[in-house]
Amino acid sequence: MDKFVIRGGTPLRGTIRISGAKNSALPCMAAAILTEDEVTLENIPDVRDIETERKLLASMGAEVELGYGRAHHRTRIRCASLDPVAKYEIVKTMRASSLVLGPLVARTGMARVAMPGGCAIGGRPIDLHIKALQAMGAEITQEHGYLEARAKRLHGAHIVFDKITVTGTEDLLMAAALADGETCMENCACEPEVTDLAKMLTSMGAQIEGAGTATIRVQGAERLHGAKHRIHPDRIEAGTFLIAAAITGGELTLTSCNPEHLSSVIEKLREVGVQCELGPDSIRVHNGGLLRSANISTEEYPGFPTDMQAQFMALATQAEGTSLVTENIFENRFMHVQELIRMGANIRVEGRIAAVVGKSPLSSAAVMASDLRASASLVLAALVAEGETIIDRVYHIDRGYERIEEKLRGVGAKIRRIGNVFRETEEPAAEVTA
Ligand code: EPZ
Repeated sequence: MDKFVIRGGTPLRGTIRISGAKNSALPCMAAAILTEDEVTLENIPDVRDIETERKLLASMGAEVELGYGRAHHRTRIRCASLDPVAKYEIVKTMRASSLVLGPLVARTGMARVAMPGGCAIGGRPIDLHIKALQAMGAEITQEHGYLEARAKRLHGAHIVFDKITVTGTEDLLMAAALADGETCMENCACEPEVTDLAKMLTSMGAQIEGAGTATIRVQGAERLHGAKHRIHPDRIEAGTFLIAAAITGGELTLTSCNPEHLSSVIEKLREVGVQCELGPDSIRVHNGGLLRSANISTEEYPGFPTDMQAQFMALATQAEGTSLVTENIFENRFMHVQELIRMGANIRVEGRIAAVVGKSPLSSAAVMASDLRASASLVLAALVAEGETIIDRVYHIDRGYERIEEKLRGVGAKIRRIGNVFRETEEPAAEVTA
């Protein structure tokens, strides 16, 4: 398994191009199931979860061509005929695999999808997907770790999600696009990734109103057709690099990003004392000196994203005063805390709240990544730690950040990747975070 070796202490300076959003690309790839025509997606990030989704679709009989290059990161998917089974071997490595449930049952009348199980950040059930599909007429049974959903044709329904769920909203949006009649969904996730998926579905012929708000209405179509769609920029990758500039006392310009999607993060960074200048698709971030503490509380979009909580905590270790970090979305998303403490951070956790006492001098240590965003926070901490930090299990970070070490090296970070010769053949543990 690869590791990162990071020598801290260099302020980052330069320009970083932001990649396409993993969490948009995953549902958009699943949406290709809804048509027998070819679908082309551009600005696909070159990350491991996308490769997992490619394998998942291919295992069901889809033709998937995935190509990365200087000018285009593109995938072409054609689901002419499908064996609607999502096998446990793939689902266990990527929780977002359950996104195929809705589109499979809508297109083929049947889906057999392995239950994803828990993961490093919490239990992560999919009961809300199931309840909503049942309301649309699907008969759902569960046996041997698999969910089986059957419906000759899903029908429109009035769905009120008990709780806001991002992939749940996406799964049902896809199902509703091919259902018979109108579906009205309330208490939907408003995340930009939902809006991106709705945009793609619309270009496939779906009729959707209200995506990006809590109420979405879908007029189901008999048939959807092929389309070409460009994935929007990854707001979490961009947010991570904003913090990289802030924590190292550097200055970065992020290009090909969407500052509008980062309002809550930018607002917090300004509160901390970081300067952010926004362009239409760029952000220049500059740490002018003293960092002040600030409290964050994770919320659904447009609130502060849970996917930025761990990175913000790394920044809080360097701010003047005590910052309170409250995690409201997942019950177990503080796995990075113990590793940050091993690097010298002063953090106390009580329930959903972590109190971070700032201005802690961090020093290098051997640390372990536990999930995607936890790994990012360790990279950020290592960038300011004294000495050489070794981060193990960086396959977690490879799931969702495109060549993070190359991007960071390009702006002055002293980071390199090393392989572990003794364990090179070992498969990553089946920890599921996306
Ligand atoms: C998406 O996960 C993202 N993944 C996550 O990104 C992100 O952290 C999360 O949304 C929250 O923003 C993808 O988009 C692929 P949820 P998702 O359903 O959809 C509970 C990353 O680092 N819930 O919105 O799985 C659930 O337990 C990742 O890129 C139910 O109770 O999250 C949680 O407490 C990790 N029943 C809350 O809702 C359900 O049926 C929100 O989860 C579904 C969810």
